[in-house]
Amino acid sequence: MSAPVARAAARPSIQVAAPSRREFLYYIWGASMALLLGQTSAGLIWFAFPRFKEGEFGGTFAFNPEELPNAGAAPVTVASGRFHISHTPEGLRALYQVCTHLGCLPKWVPTNFRFECPCHGSKFELNGAWIEGPAPRNLDRFIATVTYADGSTVETPADGGPIPLDPEQEITSIQIDTGARIVGELHP
Ligand code: FES
Repeated sequence: MSAPVARAAARPSIQVAAPSRREFLYYIWGASMALLLGQTSAGLIWFAFPRFKEGEFGGTFAFNPEELPNAGAAPVTVASGRFHISHTPEGLRALYQVCTHLGCLPKWVPTNFRFECPCHGSKFELNGAWIEGPAPRNLDRFIATVTYADGSTVETPADGGPIPLDPEQEITSIQIDTGARIVGELHP
């Protein structure tokens, strides 16, 4: 007589119900909301972070206070930031290098003690003021911030005028924001 064969227990069948039309619409709605939220968050993050890095034109440059020229001396040019640091008896200005006529780059000419544009001959004083030539206005300025050893700061005024420097205080940092340009005044 043969041994009894154990029969495998019948496995319960699993049936997956197809989502109803209402559930399907919920899923679509949920996916759309998740996509919208993702896009909104990505947009906020993009706006929250600066578009320009430090030391890149359009961003902020650190200018070494030890390189600051004496009042009335020739300016210092920072080519990567496209600006000149001009120090007159009235104070410090960060002048945008680009000519206000058609965009050439005026150079500092020591023998004439002024900026001269090689394209059409516009000339500008040490403080960026127009002297002669077809340029319609003074050189533009960037916003500069000077920080002293006591932690106080002074910034380029809204009209682009000079920052008067306090000779009694040690300057610990000079920052030039090349993303904040003040348009030079029209000359008569
Ligand atoms: S671009 Fe400078 S004078 Fe024309």
